[in-house]
Amino acid sequence: MSKNHPKKSSLIEMKGVTKEYTPRKQFFSKSQNKVLALNSIDLSIEKGEIFGLVGQSGSGKTTTGRLLVRLEAPTSGSIYLNGSPINRLKGASLKAYRSKVQMIFQDPYQSLNPHLSIAQTISEPLVVHGLGNTTSQREKVLHTLEIVGLSPGNDFYDRYPHQLSGGQRQRVAVARAIVLDPDFIVADEPTSMLDATIAIQLFKLLTEIRERFDMTFLFITHNLAAANYLCDRIAVIHEGHIVEVNRADKIIQHPEHPYTKKLIQVQPGFKLGGKRG
Ligand SMILES: Nc1ncnc2c1ncn2[C@@H]1O[C@H](COP(=O)(O)OP(=O)(O)OP(=O)(O)O)[C@@H](O)[C@H]1O
Ligand SMILES: [Mg+2]
Repeated sequence: MSKNHPKKSSLIEMKGVTKEYTPRKQFFSKSQNKVLALNSIDLSIEKGEIFGLVGQSGSGKTTTGRLLVRLEAPTSGSIYLNGSPINRLKGASLKAYRSKVQMIFQDPYQSLNPHLSIAQTISEPLVVHGLGNTTSQREKVLHTLEIVGLSPGNDFYDRYPHQLSGGQRQRVAVARAIVLDPDFIVADEPTSMLDATIAIQLFKLLTEIRERFDMTFLFITHNLAAANYLCDRIAVIHEGHIVEVNRADKIIQHPEHPYTKKLIQVQPGFKLGGKRG
């Protein structure tokens, strides 16, 4: 490493990661076609970055996110957190990893359990990881509600998801994701069900959280304009391959790969305007 160009430290790295799915065999079908969701992906996300993963439906975005938070294991290749491989984690060390990485899902109407109150939803990770007692958990939940802008926290504490708007539900999902103070959060299309003004408010919240708590984000979206608005760098994914990685403004202004150029052409304008700040 050159002294003049100190390498920024990677928080998350994927090296040659492939994921193959074997769909369940259909009763009448003789063939069992495997789906190659990810084909030898290399990706490196730096600490403190909001990194965008952009591609069309079926390109492998959610698969990438699920592998990074270890909801699934890769077929081959390696994933590292702070330089340590996560492939072989089991038992207590896997549980510890799961407290450092969190995922926010696309649909705030389906991702929250309708039978759990907002307090139960946000405190569940604390309970699962055995952190604190009832009193400290209550305080932590109220504090986290304030952080995500559901204020005063007491007004939301005993409510249920159906009593909240889509934007408020996504704030609850963010609260649940940050309550364990993770290093890394995967946000999988977190605003695709929200209208534009609510989406921008959520982007502002994610940016605020990144700055306040030094968290690192992977933001998954099919919308290049949204990625440009929120992200420092963007990777473009196409049929399980990363075709281009660059700074967000460079990707938009000087796309290199023909597929990126095509994506820019088919995007319905950059309605979200310029960068934040
Ligand atoms: N559990 C599974 N079993 C079989 N195939 C799967 C499974 N999950 C994903 N796939 C396939 O893997 C490929 C990538 O899917 P993935 O969900 O990662 O795409 P995506 O980019 O998130 O798409 P979208 O924008 O629609 O959410 C697709 O062809 C999908 O059908
Ligand atoms: Mg997806």
